[in-house]
Amino acid sequence: KDLDRCNMLITKFDPDMDHDHPVSDYASYTAEEISTWRQVYQQLRSIYPSLACKQFLDGLQQLEKECGYGEDRIPQLQEVSAFLKERTGFQLRPVAGLLSARDFLASLAFRVFQCTQYIRHSSAPMHSPEPDCCHELLGHIPMLADKEFAQFSQEIGLASLGASDEDIEKLSTLYWFTVEFGLCKQNGAVKAYGAGLLSSYGELVYALSNEPEYKPFAPEETAVQPYQDQTYQPVYFVSESFEDAKMKLRKYSANIKRPFTVRYDPFTCSVEVLDQPSKIQNALSQMREDLKTLHSALEKLSSS
Ligand SMILES: [Fe+2]
Repeated sequence: KDLDRCNMLITKFDPDMDHDHPVSDYASYTAEEISTWRQVYQQLRSIYPSLACKQFLDGLQQLEKECGYGEDRIPQLQEVSAFLKERTGFQLRPVAGLLSARDFLASLAFRVFQCTQYIRHSSAPMHSPEPDCCHELLGHIPMLADKEFAQFSQEIGLASLGASDEDIEKLSTLYWFTVEFGLCKQNGAVKAYGAGLLSSYGELVYALSNEPEYKPFAPEETAVQPYQDQTYQPVYFVSESFEDAKMKLRKYSANIKRPFTVRYDPFTCSVEVLDQPSKIQNALSQMREDLKTLHSALEKLSSS
């Protein structure tokens, strides 16, 4: 319900285009649209094993096994949302087009990913000027099935709540170079985890060739790097691991100035503003109980 107000759409690419795509619980797709999906799926699927990170490949494999992913049909957001909810607590919410950065990031704080349903035009199956369902379902969803990555995404969202416009701009640039175009090291090789890469055959191959410039992921520097939304990125940021990226992001977020502190409440799936001593007290006693449970588990392990 808190997100009902986070629905500001922006027109970014083509003012003549119809940006008001209808959203619904069940999207029906034409034979032509399914054929576009098939082409995209087949082409990308063939290069994933050598270029995508392990978490992505694991997620995609589970989706193919348990959530009806495959080249013959476009999965429905509802079923994918139910799948993610069980894995990482993330849920999908259908959205008509590109959202403002503030609204999009805010939804991540609630473990909600606002997701388009429409599909790119069949005349250009390898390119979409806006994020379409090929981008969301193939690029983002397999990654959101990974707990560590889901946590990383939510933390960008939590950092955005109450931040100034200037800090929102920096956070959305961080989001851009990680969640959309991020690379990471795995077993001595560089692999892709960004959804913008994993949903674009051309840029995925380019990003992992020896052409582009690589820099180590460093939030202070990454947050002010100019980015490209019309062509390939001039530079890609490489993380040591998701754990490392998360630690660095936490450190960065702690320095964002805002008048209050927020905490996600997993029981009510809402965000609590910690602005009264009693709220902090409640959160602390909850945490004490959790610590007791962990302590007792450790004791049982060491005595057995
Ligand atoms: Fe995206």
